[in-house]
Amino acid sequence: MKLEISGLTFSYENKKILNGLDLSIREGEFVSLLGPSGCGKSTLLKLLTGVISPEGGQVFADGQRIRGITEHFAYMPQNDLLFPWKTILENVCLYGRIHGGLEQMKGEAMAQMGAFGLKGYENEYPSALSGGMRQRAAFLRTLLCHADILLLDEPFGALDVITRGEMQDWLLGVRDRMNRTVLLVTHDIDEAIYLSDRILILDPATGKTGSEIVITEAERSRDWLFRQGELRQRIYGEIMGGGKND
Ligand SMILES: Nc1ncnc2c1ncn2[C@@H]1O[C@H](COP(=O)(O)OP(=O)(O)OP(=O)(O)O)[C@@H](O)[C@H]1O
Ligand SMILES: [Mg+2]
Repeated sequence: MKLEISGLTFSYENKKILNGLDLSIREGEFVSLLGPSGCGKSTLLKLLTGVISPEGGQVFADGQRIRGITEHFAYMPQNDLLFPWKTILENVCLYGRIHGGLEQMKGEAMAQMGAFGLKGYENEYPSALSGGMRQRAAFLRTLLCHADILLLDEPFGALDVITRGEMQDWLLGVRDRMNRTVLLVTHDIDEAIYLSDRILILDPATGKTGSEIVITEAERSRDWLFRQGELRQRIYGEIMGGGKND
């Protein structure tokens, strides 16, 4: 599903966070959004999900204007938000419980538990899991929601570097197969290069997206990642300079 955002504006109290932001993501495209802490990345995702409402601007899914909470987005918030009183399986199948199809979703969830390193923990409560396991459970929950557009807010942020690498490899492996449009918020430049078709920088000075960097398939390789430095340096410069240096 194609996503288009036009002139999105939002303030918290008197502080303008987004100011006429335009953004377009092709069907099946994987876009990462980078920017300094506090620039409004999570705010943008919350606006898309309808958790908060914009002051101005429009959002279109496949050309249709959408408003408020819709079925188009699967959202993984920055904090994992598992319910402590529900088991891992119940947490992971939350959307099945809400939208129906719970039994089928449980079957899908059980089939994926191994890949997410959660096998054997289906009936445990979140308090029995490590931070990384909880984050993987939240990620699995998001993927099991069959909405066309995934909004991922630092999904691997709390993971140790090894697990994070494994999850990135896994996501890259299923990226094309799952055929979803993805908007990923991350602070990890390497992760953005490794997973994305395109990287956008959110510029706090303007409240809009500034620079955009297209990533080729060759650049999305870990081997290459170990050798490269220039692209990483450039993206880092764009974040620090807010895109004013081009
Ligand atoms: N509920 C709120 N009330 C008032 N201000 C808020 C609220 N939530 C966020 N803000 C402010 O809005 C700005 C953008 O916040 P947001 O969470 O979108 O940033 P971010 O880019 O996701 O940052 P990070 O990379 O640290 O997660 C920040 O300056 C933050 O202090
Ligand atoms: Mg954030």
